[in-house]
Amino acid sequence: MEDENPFREEDLAIRNRPEACTLVIFGATGDLTHRKLIPALYNLAADGDLPAGMRVIGFARREKSDEEFREGLEKQNRENSRQDHDDALWETFSQSISYHQANFTDAEGYESLNEKLLELEKAGGTKNRMFYIASAPEYFDDILLQLGSAKLNKPAEGAWARVVVEKPFGKNLKTAQHLNKIVSETFPEADTYRIDHYLGKETAQNIMVLRFANALFELLWNNRCIDHVQLTCAEHLGMEGGRGGYYDKSGAMRDMVQNHLLQLLSLIAMEPPIDLSADGVRDEKVKIFKSLRPIRTIEDVSKNVIRAQYTADTVNGEDVVGYRREDRVNPGSMTETYVGLRIMIDNWRWEGVPFYVRMGKRLPKKTTEISIHFKDAPGVLFNSLPGAEIVPGNVLVIRIQPDEGISLGIRSKLPGPSARLQPVKMDFRYQTAFRKSSPEAYERLLLDAMAGDATLFARKDEVETAWQFVDAIEDAWHKSDDPPVMAEYPAGSWGPKEADDLLERDGRKWRRL
Ligand code: BG6
Repeated sequence: MEDENPFREEDLAIRNRPEACTLVIFGATGDLTHRKLIPALYNLAADGDLPAGMRVIGFARREKSDEEFREGLEKQNRENSRQDHDDALWETFSQSISYHQANFTDAEGYESLNEKLLELEKAGGTKNRMFYIASAPEYFDDILLQLGSAKLNKPAEGAWARVVVEKPFGKNLKTAQHLNKIVSETFPEADTYRIDHYLGKETAQNIMVLRFANALFELLWNNRCIDHVQLTCAEHLGMEGGRGGYYDKSGAMRDMVQNHLLQLLSLIAMEPPIDLSADGVRDEKVKIFKSLRPIRTIEDVSKNVIRAQYTADTVNGEDVVGYRREDRVNPGSMTETYVGLRIMIDNWRWEGVPFYVRMGKRLPKKTTEISIHFKDAPGVLFNSLPGAEIVPGNVLVIRIQPDEGISLGIRSKLPGPSARLQPVKMDFRYQTAFRKSSPEAYERLLLDAMAGDATLFARKDEVETAWQFVDAIEDAWHKSDDPPVMAEYPAGSWGPKEADDLLERDGRKWRRL
């Protein structure tokens, strides 16, 4: 029957084909455009994946000519491109990039943008438009409202108009709901793409394939076989490049946990979706967000959440200042640079399985991984062997970045006459298996938005339910008279002692990375 249905196949083919558009980037002079978006487009062009006729208009406040804009982009592309910068390719690629100087709040700027677009379109260019909001978050509302007033959100016949919204998507549930309201008054949900760049990472996309295309793992993927799960996102960076201004108002919980880490957790925990459509997948992720056991009272928060700030020390041989001494950070700041959490998912599959999540700045290295710790085998046969009790059991490690791959730790017999157990690994490495570097997250996400596929973007209800979970903890930290303590950890260490205690209380330990 499947084969006889021509509609589904055609539908999939259309959904997956990226179409050329004019990409208007708001906040085009910023870091994201220079370090991520333009290099992503350049690499798509280098791989022959960029649809022909694609154009970019950078919209920002600073005075700049097209030429100056392109020069700045070229410089950064040399430093940030995944593949080597090729002068000839850049020359052709950059011809499709221009600059539009205007204030985000100024209606005239949008009218002149419209004229520019109409002119390009009259000259035979694509009529599809993609508006990418990558400005400072305080302008998101204005930009959306102005796009609506100038009717830029209304596509020409046979064309589409889409909006991509960068993070942060609000700073709590209330502001996220407000932003969602403005977005939905301007663009239909189907044309709205809320970025979470972790979902574009190749290894994050592979989680569903690992689980649902291999019978082996899914059979064990439940509270009968899994003891607990750990999710670590470590960064060695601190507040370089003036980031302290943004970060001090945000903190690790809002900056990384509400979005990237909860998204990864939902991919690990979700049920198989009914199909691979955007809503099929997102329906299942939302169910996980709704099943997160709320951590609400001060007592709950103190028991299940650790917050901490780094203090001055050495990272990779370099002396660094403590968080409160960082540029643009309030010297009395109560913003966390580390979070450790014990999360419970109240559903059939996961009852009783803790998900331990940690995220920190200024840790010893940059690495993101998820480890699934399986329950121990019955010990009747081998537990009496020397050293058996200290050999770790089965751990499945999904390395999101760097050194992308998956490994399974198993116990083996040490060769030779003595009966001893030894931990060994079955290891899959992307670099060895596929012999090429994985595309950057933004390459995949831009391509998907051009193809009209929102699977790897967060839906309205995902964002809101994730905020609901995080807000309760933030409230306990910031609105109570007797808030839980702010712990400390030396820069370059693996975090505060309190985070170790969080697991030790349950008889467990963080995996050594
Ligand atoms: C961003 C956060 O979303 O992700 C940053 O705002 C963080 O604080 C960054 O450094 C990490 O992304 P990646 O892809 O380098 O792991």
